[in-house]
Order: sequence, then structure tokens, then C-alpha cells
Amino acid sequence: MNPLSAPEVRQRFLEFFRQKAHDIVPSAPMVLKDDPTLLFTNAGMNPFKDIFLGAAEAKHPRVADSQKCLRVSGKHNDLEEVGKDTYHHTFFEMLGNWSFGDYFKKEAIAWAWEFLVEEMKVEVDRLYATVFEGDAVDGLAKDEESAALWKQFLPEDRILNGSKKDNFWEMGETGPCGPCSEIHVDLRTAEERKAISGRDLVNQDHPQVIEIWNLVFMEFNRKADGSLELLPAKHVDTGMGFERLVRVLQGKSSNYDSDVFTPFIHWLEVQTQLAYGKTEAVDIAMRVIADHVRAVSFSIADGQLPSNTGAGYVIRRILRRAIRYGYTFLHQEAPFIYRLTEVLVNQMGSAYPELVRNSETIHNVILEEEKAFLRTLASGIQRIQSVIEQQGNAHLDGQTVFELYDTYGFPVDLTQLIVEEREGSIDLPGFHQAMEVQKTRSRAATQLKAGDWIIIEQQQESAFVGYDKLEALSPLLRYRIVKAGKKEQMQLVFAQTPFYPEGGGQIGDQGWLTDPNGSRHRVVDTRKETGLLLHITEVAEIVPGTWTLEVDANRRQRAAAHHSATHLLHEALREVLGSHVEQKGSLVAPDYLRFDFSHFSKVEPEDLQRIEEMVNHKVWSNLSLQEHRDIPIDEAKSMGAMALFGEKYGDRVRAIQFGSSIELCGGTHVRSTGAIGLFRIVSEASVASGIRRIEAVSREAAYQLDRTDRQLLDQIGELLKQPKDLLKAVEQLQGKLQQSEKELHAYEQSKAEAVFKLWQQKIDGQSGLKVLLAVEDLDANQVKNLLFRWKNANQIFAAVGGVNEGKPHLSILISEDLVAERGWNAGQLIRNWAKGIQGGGGGQAFLATAGGKDPKGLEGVMNEIEQWTMDNA
Ligand code: SER
Repeated sequence: MNPLSAPEVRQRFLEFFRQKAHDIVPSAPMVLKDDPTLLFTNAGMNPFKDIFLGAAEAKHPRVADSQKCLRVSGKHNDLEEVGKDTYHHTFFEMLGNWSFGDYFKKEAIAWAWEFLVEEMKVEVDRLYATVFEGDAVDGLAKDEESAALWKQFLPEDRILNGSKKDNFWEMGETGPCGPCSEIHVDLRTAEERKAISGRDLVNQDHPQVIEIWNLVFMEFNRKADGSLELLPAKHVDTGMGFERLVRVLQGKSSNYDSDVFTPFIHWLEVQTQLAYGKTEAVDIAMRVIADHVRAVSFSIADGQLPSNTGAGYVIRRILRRAIRYGYTFLHQEAPFIYRLTEVLVNQMGSAYPELVRNSETIHNVILEEEKAFLRTLASGIQRIQSVIEQQGNAHLDGQTVFELYDTYGFPVDLTQLIVEEREGSIDLPGFHQAMEVQKTRSRAATQLKAGDWIIIEQQQESAFVGYDKLEALSPLLRYRIVKAGKKEQMQLVFAQTPFYPEGGGQIGDQGWLTDPNGSRHRVVDTRKETGLLLHITEVAEIVPGTWTLEVDANRRQRAAAHHSATHLLHEALREVLGSHVEQKGSLVAPDYLRFDFSHFSKVEPEDLQRIEEMVNHKVWSNLSLQEHRDIPIDEAKSMGAMALFGEKYGDRVRAIQFGSSIELCGGTHVRSTGAIGLFRIVSEASVASGIRRIEAVSREAAYQLDRTDRQLLDQIGELLKQPKDLLKAVEQLQGKLQQSEKELHAYEQSKAEAVFKLWQQKIDGQSGLKVLLAVEDLDANQVKNLLFRWKNANQIFAAVGGVNEGKPHLSILISEDLVAERGWNAGQLIRNWAKGIQGGGGGQAFLATAGGKDPKGLEGVMNEIEQWTMDNA
């Protein structure tokens, strides 16, 4: 019987849990937008974090899915290790089943067993289960319940105790957590298993004895002070590594040998003409690339492009790691990974249609990144070369290696490889030290460290009332102090608030809070975190009770105008450029807006003008806002509302309509488009391959821009003596300038000719060696051109100097016959003479030029040359 293919395995898992009354949901985006504690979904449970914490309600008590995950750093993975073994990945799919306050250990364990053993036919005697042994520090006892449950299925000697490190799952430093029970599988041969028991290899990093499924029993919330508090309800979170499961079912000894990865490996073998499975370095490189192309492509599909900060930087690093492995070990010096994305789209496009929709963007973005990084590699190599030349050996100190890494983005192992080829070395400890110094510096500057919440009133969620009002009274629920480097700020949460939290591209509101004692506190920003709306202020004495919340109305109104203008712009872009235009990013501020969208070429000026005009027409039509608040998503879609790709929407949504523009949007808007006042596009440029950016302004900012433009025109008019027709006046001025330049050129030409005539006369009067020594008011180039005419003349030696814009120059001509007869060399002679004008130069034997710094030296040099001619005549 043929083993199941990867897509069949995914399907069978979901079907199994559908039969157990689970709601099957699609994967949430992998790139997170609203969670400041996490850049990427790193576990299947992330999208449900709020439900575990009791901050959101579950729509269905049982859910199953296959979630896109990315692990690159921190608690759960290390990028630099991926590819070296055969079973860790950056990007992976996590199959999960969830109970939100519904079933618990008994069902979770029984169903995991049923699926693996009865449905998937994994051999029972290859399986092991681990259970939490308890932990004194946390005051937790052993998970006897799970151990007892496993005894129904497994002999006791295959149920193992695990420590807090392996059997207590935590999402991060803080957050939901609980004891877990893992299922491990021993994939070794019968002989190997006989020789050493699998028992001794569980959790020992053995590549053939691996964990495949983690059943977490969520009961606690880890607080910032390290203590545990009970969650409002008990939940189940299970996560099974899809790539590992497929490998087990297909009987392979490496994840990369299952059909999840073989298409990539085969493509790489053909591309590089190197075989997989022969040398370790090549194998690692192919695994790195096969793994990383998935991570990068899925991120781009989710709207996260490579960049220099945050999540974008993580993606850039992953891609660069792949490029570097290809460059060093597979000898790929031209971009190639972008073509591998076709394999991915073919393979996973039907399960994840976002790959198909964004395939062109993925392809282009990766190509551009590859080109740029290959250039970086080239300049890094050059830099290493010049350091080696300067110091005369190839031993690089830690600081230099760090500089290469930091400034040129040049990977350390590559630096090492290159200097080793030149019999050198690098100071690795020195490098780590330099790195540590910088890390500490930037950590101190940026790390946010949140203290525990001080709860005044127990309530998990705050209500946003800011669509309807800009002022409200509300009891204070909780507050905490957050340290950002040396600075401290305070975050306050109220039962209800009119403050808009940063989201959907729109920046957070500012305003004022008045405490029950009448003290006012300035709100500098508003943000959202797991259902809580955080008002950020300076640290102050806190008074419990009812506070007055007051949004800075003018600032809000200006932001709203830019947000509404963004919708109109989006619509106009699609109308003028085509429906391939999709929003890729947006920033809405009180003073400007920025809109990134997919489009493959520069937007022509005429099109930009049309787009601007269309938006302004809608402004002047004063279309009123139709807000469809809290409608079913299907209804919004049938109205034709535009949704953003990669954005997670609930079942009920808000749609914002101005005439024919309808978008799903949670932002704030003007009551009617007239309030936008005026709309002006400021710039249009490329941000990444296939992605363009428009910056635009409205209202006061547009008026400001207009005023600046007018002032500029006025000033130019004034300079031109207020002509009636400014454009014509400038054209005339340009005409005159061109004419003058022509005349000047002609004059200089004739002056040079006159000078040459004089030189000729001087020479003609001499016999034997003819010497011309002169200082002229010509530039060096003119002199050189004139002297060149004497290349084949008889017996001429000429030295002509001059001073141009304060700088001296000197030219020497020695006619070819003299060069031949006497062996004189202008290039050599001039080097010495140029010293007198503090300069240098060179050239050929018959003609050489030099430039210098000291004009006062010229006379001396000319005397020196005269002396030389007399001595050598
Ligand atoms: N949260 C657990 C994990 O990520 C199980 O899904 O391993």
C-alpha cells in the first residue's frame, strides 16, 4: 500500500477531528499585526491566546486546524541550527485540536492515540509518552492523571517522566501555560532498537527518536513576577508537527526525504548539478534553502516583506542565510532561489491559496533581495581583501569581523572561510564580545519590560466607544508601569474609552485623562493588547475611581480625514491602474498618509494626476459616510466590500462606505468626504519589487503644501522681476544661458588658438632644441590639448603651467623624437616637479600633466624646469 501523501495526511487529520465534533478553521495569518509580544505565530495556540486568558469568547468549544508557524529565535528555536539536523524547521505546519473549557486530558489522550494508532497505523511499539513530573519551585505535583490515562494504551516502561523544561509548556516569558504530555516515536531499525532501548533516547536530541505530538493542558497564566495564576477555565492545546508526522507515515529517516520536501531537493539537485546525500555541506545547504524558501514565501504572502526592522528583518535574515548557503556550498553566484518559489506554489498552493494569489510578488521580492545581497557579498569580500592588504596578513581581529557583519551584513562563517583560504584566521571570541557590547547597548535602549498589572476592578475587556464620541467617563480597571530602556511609562486600562488604539494603519489617539482628584494626564499614544486598550502616559500617582477621558479632537479629525482619503485613493488606484492593485501596507497619520500597493511599474505622471483628480472629485461630491457596524462578514462581502489579504476577520465586521468605495475597516472616518478638504499626492516610488508607495496629504497638510509651493513661485517671480508669464521668463532665461555658454566656449576656443599661435612663434625663432616655458590663463585640459599637437613635431620641449580656481597645474610635452633620442620621460619628470606645487601627476613619456594645491609654488617650479632645460640642452 502506498503511504499517504502530505496533502492526504493533512486532510485525514482534520476529518478525524471533524468527526469528533470539532469546528475546522483555516490557518490564521503567520505574520502578527496586533501582538507586540510576538512577531510571528510560533505555535498553533497563538491565535487563541485571548480565549485561553479569558479575554475573548470562543465561538466553538472545539476547534481543529493546521496552523502556519514560524520559529526562528527565542524560546522555541534557533535559526542558525535549522538545516543542520533533519527535523527542525523555521516554517512548519502545526496540526492542532483545541478544547476551550470543554474536554480535557481523558479525551485529548484517547483521541491522539486513536488517530495515530488506529487511523494512521503507527506501530504501537515505536511509541512513548511523557508526562510532567512536577516542579517544587512552581509548587506543582506530578501529572498522575495523564500517567494513569496512558496506562490504558502503553506498558508502564514506555511512559516516562519529564521535567519542567520538556513537559511544562509556556508560550513565552508570560502568558498561558500548563503541564504537557508528549508523544515520541522511535524510528530506528529493529536491531538498533534491540541494542539500545528507545526509553533512553527520548528527549535526547536523537534524530530518529523524535517528539511528534504535544498535548498541553492549559491551566495557568505565567505573570511577569514569575508566579502562576489559575486561568478562568481549563483548556486543551495540542500541536503535532505536520512535517514530522508525514515523515513517520512515509517511513523516512529525515523530514527532508518525505514528499513535503523532496520536490525542493530535486529541483536544487538539477539546478546545482550536485547530488543530495553525498556530502554533508551540500546536504545542509540544500536543507537550509528548502526550509527557508517556505518561510520567506509564506511571510511575503502574508504581507510581510523583508526589511531592516522587526519582523521584516527576521525574514531578510532567513533569506540571506539561504542565499549565503547557496553561494558558499552550492556555488550559486547568481539569483536562483526566486525560481524555487514555483515549486512551492505548485506544491502548497491548493492548501494555501494566498501563495497563488501572491506568487508574482513573492517571485519578484525574492529576486530583488537575492540581487542586493549578492552585491553585498561582493563588496564584503572586497573589504576583507583591502584589510588583508593593509595589514599584510589575513588574521582579522574581532572588531573587524564584527564591523563586516554589522555594516556590510557579512556573515561570520563566510568571513572565516575566506580568510582561511588565505591562510588567516578570525578572532571569534573577540567577535562575540563586540557583538555582546552592541546587543547590551541596543537592548537597554529598546527593550520593553512590563511590570505586572495592578488590578483595581476585575474586568477582562475594555469597550471602544470612540466611533460615536470623543469624551467619556469610565472607571479605571488596571494599570502597570512599563520600562523602555531608561524611560518609564504608564499604561492604563478603562472599562470604556473613546481613544482609538493604533490599528489598521491608523496611529493611536492622543488626548487627556482627568483623574477623580482633577489632575490631568497627557495620553501620548493608545494601543491594543489582547483585548485591552492601553492608554500610555507618563508615570503618575494613580487615583482609583471614575476618570474623564478626552480625545484630542483636532488630531483625531485630521487622522480621520487621511483615513477616509486612503479609501478613496485605494479605489481610484484600482480604477486607473487595474484590479491587480492590492493594499500592501498603510499608515494613516494626522499630517499625511502612506499607501503601499502591488503594481509592477512606475505610475505615469498622467495616471497620478488622474488618480489625484478622482479622489478630489469624491471630496467635492461630499459623499456621506455609511458605516455598517457589526454586520455578518458574508453580508459585507456581498456588498462588494474590499478585504485585506492576510488580515484576520471575525464573523461580524464593520464596513465603511463612501459612495462606491466599500472596505472592511475598523478605523475612524470623516462624516462626509467634504471634510477631507483637499487631496494632494506628494510622491510615488518603489519600496520593493512589485510594490509601490504613494505618500499624500489632505486638509491642513494639503493646504500647507500648496502654500509652500505658492511661496516658492512668488520668490522665483521676484527674482525674475515679476514677469507676466513666469514659465516663458524661465525659458527665456535658459535660452540666454545657453547662448552665453556657446559664446563663452567660442571665445575660449579662439583664446586658446591665439595662445598657441604665440607659442608657435616663440618656438619658430629657436634652433636646435626648442624650449617653451609659459604660464597661461587656460585650464589644464586646454593646455594638454594644445600641447598634444606637438607630439610629432621636431625637437620641442614645452612646460606650461597655470592656475585654475585657485589650484595650480602643470603640463609637460616632449616631442616623440626627443623621447627617442634622449630617453626623456615627461611622466617621470613631472612627478618630481609636481612636488613644488604640492601635487602629483603622471602620464606618458611624451605628455604628462599634474595638479597641485599650492599656486605660490608654480614660479619656483618653472624656474627649476628652466634650469633643467639649460643643463640638458
Ligand atoms: N502549544 C504547544 C506547542 O506549540 C502545543 O500546540 O508545542
